[in-house]
Amino acid sequence: MKEGLVVVSLFDGLSGGRLSLEQSGVKIKRYYSSEIDRTAICISLKNYPDNIHLGNIQDISIKRLLNGNVLIADKYEEDPSNILLIGGSPCQGFSFAGKQLNFEDPRSKLFFEYIRILNEIKPKYFFLENVKMKREYEEVITSYMKVTPIKINSSILGPQLRSRLYWTNIEYSEITDKGTELNSILENGYVDRTKSYCIDANYGKSGNLKSYFASSRRQLVFNDKESYEKAQEAYLAGNYAIKGLARILTPIEAERAQGLPDNYTECENVSKFNRYKAIGNGWSIYIINRFFRNLSWFGISS
Ligand SMILES: C[S@@+](CC[C@H](N)C(=O)[O-])C[C@H]1O[C@@H](n2cnc3c(N)ncnc32)[C@H](O)[C@@H]1O
Repeated sequence: MKEGLVVVSLFDGLSGGRLSLEQSGVKIKRYYSSEIDRTAICISLKNYPDNIHLGNIQDISIKRLLNGNVLIADKYEEDPSNILLIGGSPCQGFSFAGKQLNFEDPRSKLFFEYIRILNEIKPKYFFLENVKMKREYEEVITSYMKVTPIKINSSILGPQLRSRLYWTNIEYSEITDKGTELNSILENGYVDRTKSYCIDANYGKSGNLKSYFASSRRQLVFNDKESYEKAQEAYLAGNYAIKGLARILTPIEAERAQGLPDNYTECENVSKFNRYKAIGNGWSIYIINRFFRNLSWFGISS
């Protein structure tokens, strides 16, 4: 065990899984990453140049060997009792904020690639994340994962209202914390809410007073309390422009909302819009840590 854990991360995004494992004190022997988004790969490679990139999940072939080990990336032979399989398959099809095509959305079907690899590797530990969805689709996923999901809202530890489902055989540490509030992650300015739907993948499209006050979504940061009061008056008068009164969260504030280190997503040739997209697609690291800290003995004791 001293060698550390072998991690196979599917739909790896910006390698939030690796960040969380490292923050949780888990020693990693090798980290395999399957991802196709150029921005996400760029951010992962900046932070973790030694990630082994596997590309498109549909092209991953795992060979089971006679001695029970598995061959990954046609190069490394791994012992399944030393493997953690993680992933958050695309959620747009299930999200209540989207068209809800559920398994009719081709992106949702990628979940079955996770299941294919789970069955091929038969890892010691597995972890799957997705959005809160209609019960019938949750039950489909549960029937394949063979464990019931734990539902957690990121707001119990962080400033975000972000409800997610986690299917895993890793123990979860219960939380009794009121969590970080929104104003604590600001670089400057004023917010009227303590917790909010801070960001999603489209957050970089900017916001307006209507989406903020009417649907409570795209979080805004006001210059000060007076600007907030003026913004309320403008909204009630039907003027929705934020110019001169408010701004959207900076990329650093968005990173903090997810528990990423400042400038984690800053990368040459990556636009601000794409930084928000990668952050909005990612995991709330402080929540993931509550699972992965229970693997921290891994690689330490023999
Ligand atoms: C919900 S996000 C997961 C983000 C990740 N958990 C993180 O913390 O950043 C889903 C990811 O799946 C990736 N993806 C979509 N199709 C894929 C495919 N065919 N193979 C590998 N990754 C894919 C997307 O680019 C996206 O980054």
